[in-house]
Amino acid sequence: MSRKSRRASPGFLFLQMAKRHPIGVFDSGYGGLTVLGEVVQALPGYDYLYLGDNARAPYGSRSFESVYRYTLGCVKWLFDQGCPLIVLACNTASAKALRTIQQKDLQHIAPDNRVLGVIRPTTEIIGNFTRSGKIGILATTGTVQSGSYRIEIEKFFPQVGVFQQACPMWVPLVENNEHLGPGADYFVREGIDKLMSQEEGIDIVLLACTHYPLMIDKIREFMPPGVQVMTQGNIVAISLADYLKRHPEIESRLTQNGDMHFYTTDSTEDFDAHASIFYGKPVQSSYLSLT
Ligand code: DGL
Repeated sequence: MSRKSRRASPGFLFLQMAKRHPIGVFDSGYGGLTVLGEVVQALPGYDYLYLGDNARAPYGSRSFESVYRYTLGCVKWLFDQGCPLIVLACNTASAKALRTIQQKDLQHIAPDNRVLGVIRPTTEIIGNFTRSGKIGILATTGTVQSGSYRIEIEKFFPQVGVFQQACPMWVPLVENNEHLGPGADYFVREGIDKLMSQEEGIDIVLLACTHYPLMIDKIREFMPPGVQVMTQGNIVAISLADYLKRHPEIESRLTQNGDMHFYTTDSTEDFDAHASIFYGKPVQSSYLSLT
């Protein structure tokens, strides 16, 4: 089916989603699927609407202004489809756009709705896993430059040292499906070596980009022995389940038909081919044009 034939007209979307109030899950591309999979496992039965902004990915090397503008546009669209709650399953968007959306935009665009990120759930527990008190963060350039992990971990675990390394080639490798090939070895080893050479004794390394779990086997292969590699999907899923328990005013607005819809701002054919591999199940997406 061509991209055009699967293009979602506003009327179609309205009819399709009229009685649905899904949990919105957003990422710049495929990475959020690693979070979605864990969330669906922890919270089956709810309706989900996934949006990957593949046309403008990667976000990691873009300015604050661009990441904020793109993310806000996607958040507004997900609200328009009836999502009372959105998870930004993207560290770069969580680092560069979430706070402004929560503190400035939400009150104007949808005061009763909520937008959550992936950084807070991770930083409030990660300090419990290190024995040496030294944590490594592998992330996009944007996430590293924002300093969000260092700032947030310090709030919860002031005694823990945080060492960060940007890996700007890793997301393009994943987005182009080259992350498991031999060409990826050089860049994976380079990122790990640069991180580990910053400090001796790092014993926990967090994959602070939702794309990176897709190459976890390769990352583990090049990681020094004894270093634990952590991913976020499960942490975010547990935190979201807890959030819904604590916020019945949001939970009661979510519909539970077990529906799952995927949208991409780029080619549906490409999305379906990649996403099915990353999500572990067949995916059939619709095209969304966002400007
Ligand atoms: N997967 C996203 C993250 O967690 C963004 C990657 C990108 O678009 O650069 O940071």
